[in-house]
Amino acid sequence: MNNISLLTFPQIKDPRGNLSFIEYPQHIPFEIKRIYYIYDISEGAERGAHGHKKLEQVIIPLSGSFDLTLDDGHTRKTFSLKKPWQGLYIPPMMWRDLNNFSSGSVCLVLASDVYKEEDYYRDYKDFLNDVNG
Ligand code: TYD
Repeated sequence: MNNISLLTFPQIKDPRGNLSFIEYPQHIPFEIKRIYYIYDISEGAERGAHGHKKLEQVIIPLSGSFDLTLDDGHTRKTFSLKKPWQGLYIPPMMWRDLNNFSSGSVCLVLASDVYKEEDYYRDYKDFLNDVNG
């Protein structure tokens, strides 16, 4: 779990509204090849429930808040994300579950590669098998 890190992005504070930005390589450890976002999230919804073989991601609570639980096959840790100027870096081989979304929340994901279904673990047992090699 040591390779998970909470990244803090620059903030330009302004009475008209604050602004944050993310540049590679100063603020994020990989080149961004894809951005996606989850919104209009139903009350009580659970997202994630998968792992990635090679993909690296940074998850940012662009609006509102949610909980992100990471599991490396040995240890599980839950992070409550609610600051839009911070993002959680998730290395490869990490199972993730997202829940407890606040009403109107938006989850932004920066990813190191384009969408590839073959990079997913959709079954927790398959993930554990590969973790334990
Ligand atoms: P999934 O990654 O399972 O969503 P989440 O982790 O948020 O619960 O993806 C949901 C669906 O969207 C799945 O059918 C694949 C599709 N999808 C894409 O086509 N491109 C993408 O970049 C992503 C992230 C998902």
